[in-house]
Amino acid sequence: MPSRSYSPLDPSDETMPVTSSDKSLPETIDDLQQALEAASLGSDQETETFRIRYLGQKNGILTNLFKRIQEVPKEQRRVVGQQLNALKQQAETRLQEAQARLRRDTRQDGRALDLTLPGRRTITGSTHPLTQTLHAITRIFERLGFTVADGPEIEDDWHNFTALNFPPDHPARDMQDTLFIEASQGGEGGVMLRTHTSPVQIRAMMANKPPFRLIAPGRVYRNETITYKSYCLFHQVEGLVVDEGVTMADLKHVLFTFARAFFGDDVTLRFRPSFFPFTEPSAELDIWWPLPDHPDGGRWMEILGSGMVDPNVLEAVGIDAERYTGYAFGMGVERPAMLRYGIDDIRIFYENDIRFLEQF
Ligand code: DAH
Repeated sequence: MPSRSYSPLDPSDETMPVTSSDKSLPETIDDLQQALEAASLGSDQETETFRIRYLGQKNGILTNLFKRIQEVPKEQRRVVGQQLNALKQQAETRLQEAQARLRRDTRQDGRALDLTLPGRRTITGSTHPLTQTLHAITRIFERLGFTVADGPEIEDDWHNFTALNFPPDHPARDMQDTLFIEASQGGEGGVMLRTHTSPVQIRAMMANKPPFRLIAPGRVYRNETITYKSYCLFHQVEGLVVDEGVTMADLKHVLFTFARAFFGDDVTLRFRPSFFPFTEPSAELDIWWPLPDHPDGGRWMEILGSGMVDPNVLEAVGIDAERYTGYAFGMGVERPAMLRYGIDDIRIFYENDIRFLEQF
């Protein structure tokens, strides 16, 4: 067997004869001090090996050296004893420091943290552009004294159509336009996804007494072919004001105030006669949207429907139409949102593409 020479205190040498007397104790102490300093304590495993090797109760190097103190001539014993104590202290301090450092640094693979690496960006969510638009619209009406009401997205025929003065044969009652949950019979009855937010008018008026001054934002559903400009689901904000002496002039004033607050003071507006079953007279509000490439320099865009609440509707909910008058309006949210953010395809609102959403 080839003889093997080894340094008696090489900490990496498992076979090291720790308690042999190859060297005198003072020499051993010198070597040991260097070995303690040099030992690598970068991981839990290394610190544990270090603890057992030097400080272990049974066969730790330092523990064993204390047992060899008798070998030292009497007059040197005090000094050597002190040196051994200092060494033990040194080993314990290194161990404690290493353990504390490892507890702080959860990466225990022995690699140091590289503080020069760029930080990782935390991804925070943002409010959907439709929700932001809905909030902006709601805030404007709240400043005008409106409260916010809501109603169910699954409606019955009476709230969605009949009470709103839709005749039994109105095309909106057709399966082609409305997403039914339970089919209607002969044009009446049935349960459906609401096709507009107007049934919230009916629910609010059934639940309370006039005066009313409320808006109802929410989702609505239609059986539409999906294209860049129409989707089967979209949002509306309904408005309802009922009181004594409410006139069309009040309606026009509120709508113009809203449009200027939302689109800017310099927006060009057009209030144009229209028809809805639940209002009489009815009107639509258009805004002029400048388009540099358009032959006319821009075009009118319809943003909402409105009118004076039809007396038939007031009567359907038990309000005295001789005493009270009111106005109502309903606007889509997607189109103003598209204008506001320069979006040209409605479908992108519903795709949940993070690259789109994180821009808001
Ligand atoms: N409900 C109508 C629609 O979905 C919008 C509307 C028009 C609501 C006139 C109203 C109104 O309250 O008075 O197209």
